[in-house]
Amino acid sequence: MKNILVTGAAGFIGSAFARYMVAQYPHYKIVIYDKLTYAGNLDNLLPISDEANYHFERGDIADRAAVQRVMQTHDIDTVVNFAAESHVDRSILAPDAFIHTDVVGTYILLDEALKHGVERFLQVSTDEVYGDIDEGLSLEDDTFAPNSPYSASKAGAEHMVRAYHVTHGLNTVVTRGSNTYGPYQYPEKLLPLFITEAMDDKPLPLYGDGMQVRDWLYVEDHVTGIDVALHKGEAGQAYNVAGENQQHNIDVVRQMLALLGKPDSLIKHVPDREGHDRRYAMNCDKLRSLGWQRQFTFETGLEATVRWYQQNEWWWRKIKSGEYLEYYKQQYEARLAAAEE
Ligand code: NAD
Ligand code: TYD
Repeated sequence: MKNILVTGAAGFIGSAFARYMVAQYPHYKIVIYDKLTYAGNLDNLLPISDEANYHFERGDIADRAAVQRVMQTHDIDTVVNFAAESHVDRSILAPDAFIHTDVVGTYILLDEALKHGVERFLQVSTDEVYGDIDEGLSLEDDTFAPNSPYSASKAGAEHMVRAYHVTHGLNTVVTRGSNTYGPYQYPEKLLPLFITEAMDDKPLPLYGDGMQVRDWLYVEDHVTGIDVALHKGEAGQAYNVAGENQQHNIDVVRQMLALLGKPDSLIKHVPDREGHDRRYAMNCDKLRSLGWQRQFTFETGLEATVRWYQQNEWWWRKIKSGEYLEYYKQQYEARLAAAEE
């Protein structure tokens, strides 16, 4: 492993992975390939932009010629695919981009990786492919039951990864991460949206009763999980990367508000997300058996996250304009108007 193509690394988790890999493995060449959609942000890569082993190429993973060019130019031997449309609410409003990137883009990347003789292909996936589970913990061999256009597109991508392994012998590994939070997360997901809105004393649109359960994983722990799977995972296998920290949404929001010193009265119960999965939870013994260990508790991770957004208004204030405001209006205006007190 020498020349690693990291797609989608101008986004939240991919940029954390790139910052980590550039520092951790100075002898690897880290080549970032990102389309810079609304969610891609070169500010996320500023801390490493002057490093000798860092390279950035702008492009779409579904653009075959561009993918071919970047693989050849940088003599790529390893691919880590973070590139995706990643927000469930947007997949309900406009699923086209999800099919384009998550499904077609992953297929093009696999196909070009195979032709180019890539030695390892890691697909970054999600616990959402398992769908809603009432009780217990999802295991890697459980059946998929995706319920949103987002999770269906990620499940489609994963099936294609499996097919390229079984049919063509491509050396693939999949990681399935749980709900990830931390610095540099685009302020459309629950925590960064609510932290930044609460800092301005704005209402916080909590879907339904707020009793949905997510398993919260700090971004730096997710990144080390991917690193362990990349280096030690067995070809053709999938690995759950869990926070083992199941919380009701309303409790997450209350803990966040306490850290900010803001009142719970900012919470507004708004009409629920369509098809909203009630609970995700995974077992991650398989990844642990490769030597992975988390470093953050929810307390330390949440505190670090809240403080980062307080100290980095320069990063998120400029995002909250233009397209962002249009999306916010489309997603929340009617919901907030219908909010229960
Ligand atoms: P993000 O939305 O912050 O970033 C996505 C990145 O992909 C952006 O930089 C964007 O510009 C880029 N991109 C989008 N379409 C592209 C295309 N066609 N070609 C090239 N680049 C493209 O996403 P994130 O939250 O960092 O998630 C990264 C990956 O991790 C995704 O595959 C997602 O499904 C997965 N994941 C996310 C979570 C989570 O809680 N955020 C949990 C588990 C798994
Ligand atoms: P989100 O961050 O969108 O992640 P995912 O849907 O991929 O789990 O949402 C996390 C949880 O928070 C989910 O149960 C939906 C809920 N949520 C709200 O209640 N209000 C919001 O405005 C958002 C964005 C999410």
